[in-house]
Amino acid sequence: MNEIDEIIVTGGRPLHGSVRIQGSKNAALPVMAAALLSTGTSVLRGCPRISDVYLMEKILKYLGAETWWEGQDLYLDCSHADGTMIPECYSGKMRSSVILMGAMLGRSKKAQTGYPGGCVIGKRPVDLHIQVLRRLGAAVVENGGMIRASCGKLRGAEMFFQKRSVGATEQGILAAVLAEGKTVLNGCACEPEIYWLCIILPEWGQRSGSVKMAVSVLKEWRSLKLAIAAFHQTVLSPGPISWQRRQPEERSSWKIRLWRKWMESWTYIGKWVDNAAVGGKLIVNGKNAGFPLELLETEVYPGFPTDLQSPAMAVLATIPGVSRIREKIFEDRYKTASWLCKMGAQIQIRDGVAVIYGGQPLTGCTVEAEELRGGAALVIAALAAQGITRIRGCCFIERGYEHICEDLTALGGLLIKDRGTL
Ligand code: EPZ
Repeated sequence: MNEIDEIIVTGGRPLHGSVRIQGSKNAALPVMAAALLSTGTSVLRGCPRISDVYLMEKILKYLGAETWWEGQDLYLDCSHADGTMIPECYSGKMRSSVILMGAMLGRSKKAQTGYPGGCVIGKRPVDLHIQVLRRLGAAVVENGGMIRASCGKLRGAEMFFQKRSVGATEQGILAAVLAEGKTVLNGCACEPEIYWLCIILPEWGQRSGSVKMAVSVLKEWRSLKLAIAAFHQTVLSPGPISWQRRQPEERSSWKIRLWRKWMESWTYIGKWVDNAAVGGKLIVNGKNAGFPLELLETEVYPGFPTDLQSPAMAVLATIPGVSRIREKIFEDRYKTASWLCKMGAQIQIRDGVAVIYGGQPLTGCTVEAEELRGGAALVIAALAAQGITRIRGCCFIERGYEHICEDLTALGGLLIKDRGTL
């Protein structure tokens, strides 16, 4: 007998109601890595309880950290997190494992990791990560499936990224914190997760008496240039340091702004109701939504985010007319198209462009999530389909979505999580 995990969706029910938006996976992971730069306890309030966060927690434990949860708050005591090696069994499961290299090097002058895994959506090399570590003075070698780095002391330097990379920018920032002197990173990614890291690190530094880095980072991040003045202590001082998402600011996040613009162009009605106490609400009425998009291209910030590409494809499959999507960040992020076609959608991939002949009726069937956002896209399609859809591989979906079944069921959908056997 084989174990299965699947989400069973009964489609065709209109959604309405209200849900609370969870914290961001891609913002939480680098902040967790940043906790390694401290010898005290860091607290992430409102941290999403998702499998990627649990895996990062496991890695930090493996490196010697003590960790615990109080409700939605994650405590990371890195007083003794002096480990310098991440085995392949951990690194191979998550892309973000690699950004611990910079933090480990800063802290212990040594770092070793297996190659990072994560969603298979393209080649996803690590050359830029290695480049930035070398630029800051580390000797890095790759052999036997491992990346090994060491340094006498990391030294601030100027670096020009040839390509915008979220992870490599995070790597550079984390390595620069404990490097001696000033680091200037040019051509940085400036997605919101970078912004938040740049807000949090100086705050943590300030509270522990190591304030140097603050100002210059914030002044320049929008021009894709980060100047990071080093802390002068070996590691940040101990003491509980906590950070809580400042919810009202979150609403100006570009993803939300962009999503809103996009919704408006689709004649959705998206409206913010300001209420600092609850962090603001976005009210959306999708009743009149419904025209195709001539060409939607994914771009680095502030363009349309690649992480929303597959969910957008699922939505466009339900809208009559021809829409086109060009994925420009990852070369293999159209896997969901064939599963959507199995449900009845008409999508063809030609010369790197997905052409969607929308408005075909979708019918429930068994489909397979092959990666995180593609899995979310299948859930969306299943909600619009007639009949029952069984989505296998929901461990991918759980990497990033905390209560997807509960949230969508609260909105009137009917989703059941089933862990059974075949
Ligand atoms: C982050 O991945 C996110 N992951 C991804 O979200 C997101 O899709 C991506 O940024 C783009 O926004 C996390 O934050 C954990 P990149 P990352 O380095 O850092 C190439 C999700 O579903 N590249 O910005 O790996 C790379 O191949 C995930 O939540 C190099 O060539 O993305 C890609 O084409 C999936 N060399 C481009 O840069 C390098 O050394 C952008 O990748 C690094 C990257």
